[in-house]
Amino acid sequence: MAEGYPQEQRDAIYRVIAERRDVRRGFRPDPVPPEVLGRVLTAAHRAPSVGFSQPWDFIVITDRDRRERIAGLARRHAGEFAAGLPGARARAFDRLKIESILDTPVNIVVSCDRTRGGRHTLGRATQPQTADFSSVLAVANLWLAARAEGLGVGWVSFFDERELAAELGLPPHVQVIAYLCVGYVDAFAAEPELATAGWARRRPVSWAVHAEEFGRRGMPGEEPVDPLADVLAAINPPDAEAMAAARERQDRMTKPRGSLGALEDVSVRLAGLAGCCPPPLPEPACVAVFAADHGVHAQGVSPWPQEVTAQMVANFLAGGAVVNAFAAQAGAEVTVVDVGVAASLEPVPGLLPRKIGPGTADFTAGPAMTREQATAALVTGAEIARDLVAAGNRCLVTGDMGIANTTASAALICAFTGADPADATGRGTGIDAAAYAKKIDVVCRGLARHQPDPADPIGVLAAFGGFEHAALAGFILGAAALRVPVILDGVIAGAAALAAVALAPDAIAACFAGHRGAEPGHAVTLSYLGLRPLVDLGLRLGEGTGAVLALPLVQSAARALRDVATFDSAGVAEKS
Ligand SMILES: Cc1cc2nc3c(=O)[nH]c(=O)nc-3n(C[C@H](O)[C@H](O)[C@H](O)COP(=O)(O)O)c2cc1C
Repeated sequence: MAEGYPQEQRDAIYRVIAERRDVRRGFRPDPVPPEVLGRVLTAAHRAPSVGFSQPWDFIVITDRDRRERIAGLARRHAGEFAAGLPGARARAFDRLKIESILDTPVNIVVSCDRTRGGRHTLGRATQPQTADFSSVLAVANLWLAARAEGLGVGWVSFFDERELAAELGLPPHVQVIAYLCVGYVDAFAAEPELATAGWARRRPVSWAVHAEEFGRRGMPGEEPVDPLADVLAAINPPDAEAMAAARERQDRMTKPRGSLGALEDVSVRLAGLAGCCPPPLPEPACVAVFAADHGVHAQGVSPWPQEVTAQMVANFLAGGAVVNAFAAQAGAEVTVVDVGVAASLEPVPGLLPRKIGPGTADFTAGPAMTREQATAALVTGAEIARDLVAAGNRCLVTGDMGIANTTASAALICAFTGADPADATGRGTGIDAAAYAKKIDVVCRGLARHQPDPADPIGVLAAFGGFEHAALAGFILGAAALRVPVILDGVIAGAAALAAVALAPDAIAACFAGHRGAEPGHAVTLSYLGLRPLVDLGLRLGEGTGAVLALPLVQSAARALRDVATFDSAGVAEKS
């Protein structure tokens, strides 16, 4: 067996990997000696490549005028990107430094010739992208060697590739892979700047390692992770000390005690959830609209055809729905999750394809889904919460879309709360008296058929749930596990929250009721959960609209606790 390197050298390898940083600030003007650049480029040139095609070239740029022109190209695209960001994200982006084209003495472009080596290049025929991958490996080598030399490297990707290629005189068959800004630095940051700036978080390695099949997560030598059990185990009660500190601070703030009404409770709950006072501002925020279809639609419980679910998904993605307008106003991002739309959807930016099945089965005839599907949807929802938080969101907002989902919600609410179907069933998007009576009967028949046991939340979800209910329950649990607030929309989110709380009672600490919807089952749910809605406007749209309206209220509650002066700090006399 070949020997590994001595310990000291292994340590050096792992050290350079751990300490490599994307550097954007703190560059020194000192020139980089040619021999140092030569070593770094030679390291890059030693990268592995498909069929040993070595498709890379390195263009070394030092000319100031050229760099000024290139910086102009990057800034234009960065400006366009910033203009498309939701409010809180745009503010955060503004504070980031995204390129150092002029601050570094040398820029290096790594290119790729996808034709090099001819048609029989080993391994490239089935996966032409492997040529690009090979050039990226050259970038990785360069980046690591540079770190060992004390050189910072920043990768800038805000370019129109062909525009940049023209500036560099690249022939049409050669593509730009990376634009790197290189120079000596005063220090290397310990963590990625985007992590310290709160833009994104590092995913734990155990999330990234799967045993045998995708989804069976776990590190080698350890038991595979049960993702749902993991999420449930991470959910804890709110921090009593932080809540007490928040209450005490509310009483010392320059305002009469209790004068912020329900918002004082919101701020106290946010502190309890975060475990600190004041809690972090719940921004940026992201609305996740979970979309799915329902077999019970066949029972004539909605006046709308089932295709409307897919059509509305397209509308959300095109930015044309009410939730888009409200989210734009509140500065939140909208993400759409297909957890079970009964149509195949085109992949477009903003759509997360996570279909558990093409719609559920009719719950009056049998279970809406299998227990395995219910569990898969729960895990999916929790993973989406986790990914959105890893992407930098500090507040999650529930949204939903699914023709006939008020019927499934009514059945879930009855199953979890014991409410009478006549009290929990509503008119949804609007049905006449005859259809309403039929809808109540459908819920009654479902309950009679499945005899749900509220102590078995997965069984209840499987019996009646839409895939969006189960995924929303997972989303709520995921938020609770990460101690990030989740603003609940209407009756669909409420029904999902009942399932989440049945699985982990402490999940309630993360839940904020955005509004009270017009569906009678929603009031039943809110009082069962002990949640006070922040907005009460008779909305009955779903999509996340009511929750998005409440977002600025939740954010204001946190900001008040953080920013408002206290009597002692402001020198204001207290009431005698
Ligand atoms: C393909 C690629 C493109 C990148 N483009 C940019 C960019 O345009 N601007 C920027 O500021 N950082 C860019 N980065 C740097 C990443 O933001 C950075 O690698 C990431 O935050 C992780 O930090 P670390 O490299 O210090 O570990 C890019 C990185 C890669 C791998």
